[in-house]
Amino acid sequence: MSERLQAPRGTQDVLGEQARARAALEGHARGVLEAAGYERIETPAFEATELFARGVGASTDVVQKEMYTFTDGGGRSLTLRPEGTAPICRAFLEHGMARRPAPVKLWYLSSFFRYERAQAGRYRQFWQIGAEVIGSADPSVDAETILLLAELLDVLGVGERRLRLSSLGSPPARIEYRERLTAHLLTRRDELAPEVAARIELNPLRAFDSDHAGTRAVMADAPILLDCIDDDDRSHFDAVRALLDDAGLAYDIDPTLVRGLDYYTRTVFEFESAALGAQRGVGGGGRYDGLMAQLGGPDTPACGWAAGVERILLAAGDPPPEPPVVDLYVGYAEPARRAVAFALARTARRAGLHAELELAGRSLKGQLKHADRLGARHVALVQADGVALKTMADGEQRELGDEAAATEIARLGSP
Ligand code: HAM
Repeated sequence: MSERLQAPRGTQDVLGEQARARAALEGHARGVLEAAGYERIETPAFEATELFARGVGASTDVVQKEMYTFTDGGGRSLTLRPEGTAPICRAFLEHGMARRPAPVKLWYLSSFFRYERAQAGRYRQFWQIGAEVIGSADPSVDAETILLLAELLDVLGVGERRLRLSSLGSPPARIEYRERLTAHLLTRRDELAPEVAARIELNPLRAFDSDHAGTRAVMADAPILLDCIDDDDRSHFDAVRALLDDAGLAYDIDPTLVRGLDYYTRTVFEFESAALGAQRGVGGGGRYDGLMAQLGGPDTPACGWAAGVERILLAAGDPPPEPPVVDLYVGYAEPARRAVAFALARTARRAGLHAELELAGRSLKGQLKHADRLGARHVALVQADGVALKTMADGEQRELGDEAAATEIARLGSP
């Protein structure tokens, strides 16, 4: 016998209850985001590798270690999307969306790919719900996107959570800060974790992410970016905070919040759930005013977030969704009458009923048992000379001709 193959490490099959939970999540996401005027967008699963190298940042872990990159038959370097923001900016430019009234508000629910160490809550193919608002620098955009994510997490049952908020300021202040931080790290290089020490020049900010005790001690004395941002950035941040305060959304200012992607400017935020283990970030994002120009477009301010579908479901404790209501189960006594059963199921579905058909050639007794297991409200059993229509709640059964049965079934569908 051949060896049985399994799904690749870090990937998941989605079926049964999980599939239903995801469908419910999608419905809630659509409800919250479309009610706020966001339009669904879908971009391709792979893009030119250069999009992520330029957009996400060559020094990030995502670009350095985590991309699924391949060369296609035409010799082009392509990459399975590790995130959605750079592709959406690419699409925004490609479709001239700048001509639309600003800001353009988009949302997505798509799968993403990162070659990460697989563990609970961290996968190599995972799904994100995301929202991007492009074309406005107003602090109300930052506040609205944060509030929408908070609302979505509430609706989805991720109640116990913490919001970390900070500002990274604008590039000039960041360059100056980076020099100060680099100098600080270099003077205490010996105390740092080897991988942090090796990357001081490349990306000193990532040292804030380290769990290494020595590194943490060095970082406790490190200069703080939030103290160095300029007056415009500070008043932008204050305005975002005031809007969140007015809306009653609690947050912690956390100047050590470092997002793993390089495109952020000004506001950054992350929601964490205590219900998750090491991978406690359920969703995060921020402003990325420089990204569009980095991708060859005009200066265009923008802000957005993405939240991990698997992590939301884990954090929400994955409550089993309502079982589907089977309105009608259609069985038959003999194969010669199968066509009638098919026609009745079709009639029922056209009338808006959830109708299931006997598909496994069970005995009559087996069919009734199966209908019961499905929780069917009605059962139509096609017999040699008519149809027995049974209401399961009270056991009432009527013997009808084929046509009368069809009429009766259509009536079950009308309110
Ligand atoms: P991110 O923080 O890299 O941001 O990912 C957002 C969310 O995706 C995380 O909070 C987490 O819930 C989920 N996630 C990330 N990696 C994995 C993984 N390997 N397995 C499971 N879930 C994962 C972004 O991707 C940005 N594009 C967000 C953004 C949008 N910023 C501005 N606009």
